[in-house]
Amino acid sequence: MPKLAVLVSGTGSILEAILQYPLDVELVIADRDCPAVAVALNAGVRVKVVNRSRYYPFSKETRHNFSGEVLHFLHKHGSGDVAAMAGFGTILDPMFFSSYKGILLNTHPSLLPAFKGHNAVQKALDARATESGCTIHVATPALDDGPVLAQEKVPVLPNDTEETLHERIKSVERVLYPRIIKEVLQKTL
Ligand code: GRF
Repeated sequence: MPKLAVLVSGTGSILEAILQYPLDVELVIADRDCPAVAVALNAGVRVKVVNRSRYYPFSKETRHNFSGEVLHFLHKHGSGDVAAMAGFGTILDPMFFSSYKGILLNTHPSLLPAFKGHNAVQKALDARATESGCTIHVATPALDDGPVLAQEKVPVLPNDTEETLHERIKSVERVLYPRIIKEVLQKTL
């Protein structure tokens, strides 16, 4: 079976859903100390923290070096087939995309191409969107771009806050993302 790595920065609820699907996760890479690290360790998954603060301030050169370290661990620990970003908060350098031997996936909390980048949930609220959702896509050097594999809509409710809307979106990501990752892993066989 192809090897899967998951890249995280946050609470790790999507990672948890991936693990419980169940999918075999070979390696988790975090770009900071975050609750997702504990989620991985509790599941007995190997974790590497490539702390982004060691690369501050980000420049072309430090982003390149950060991305090189992530790449090194993916290839070293045999997770070179599929890597899934699950709330990963650092933009990878174009070098990563030309060098990574596998497929990099992402889940984004909006209906792309709407609301790319950080704060996508708040952007949907600010735009008074009546629906939002999530997009699972192949990641490319262009941020929150790349071939869309799946999308699912959720309604935006009148009293939504960023937190309530994001939780509604995450509840669909937790179902959809593991299923799409599994499909990609099977096609990579
Ligand atoms: C998800 O909504 C993902 O799309 C976004 O960050 C969130 C990750 O949530 N980029 P969690 O840390 O897995 O709870």
